[in-house]
Amino acid sequence: MYSDKVMDHFMNPRNVGEIENADGVGQVGNAKCGDIMKMYLKIEDNIITDAKFKTFGCGAAVATSSMATELVVGKTVDEALMITNKAVAEALDGLPPVKMHCSNLAEEAIRAALEDYKKKNGLLDSSTESTA
Ligand code: FES
Ligand code: FES
Repeated sequence: MYSDKVMDHFMNPRNVGEIENADGVGQVGNAKCGDIMKMYLKIEDNIITDAKFKTFGCGAAVATSSMATELVVGKTVDEALMITNKAVAEALDGLPPVKMHCSNLAEEAIRAALEDYKKKNGLLDSSTESTA
């Protein structure tokens, strides 16, 4: 039921771990299943230079976090904010419909880490403040 890419990123997840002195850290939980994802970002001159994650969750959650870290590195903060869970799933050649909700974690964890970065650097205006 999973694509080869999903299996690959699940069996050999990229960028597992944490970044010491990360510029942005975001942790989100999936209300549907209780799984948790934590995302660490290193940001220099508005470019994401490194990303690491820890995910306590299902295979699809691990695979999407792994792919999400690969997608964000090299992007600007604004570009990374536009990455959707659909884009992450597409980069993995798709997810089974019942597993699409797992990819929300990756999108939300990236957003949370970027918001943390903005907050720490005084870049957050009230309109972008998350209520989640
Ligand atoms: Fe939690 Fe998928 S329901 S691992
Ligand atoms: Fe919980 Fe996949 S079932 S994130």
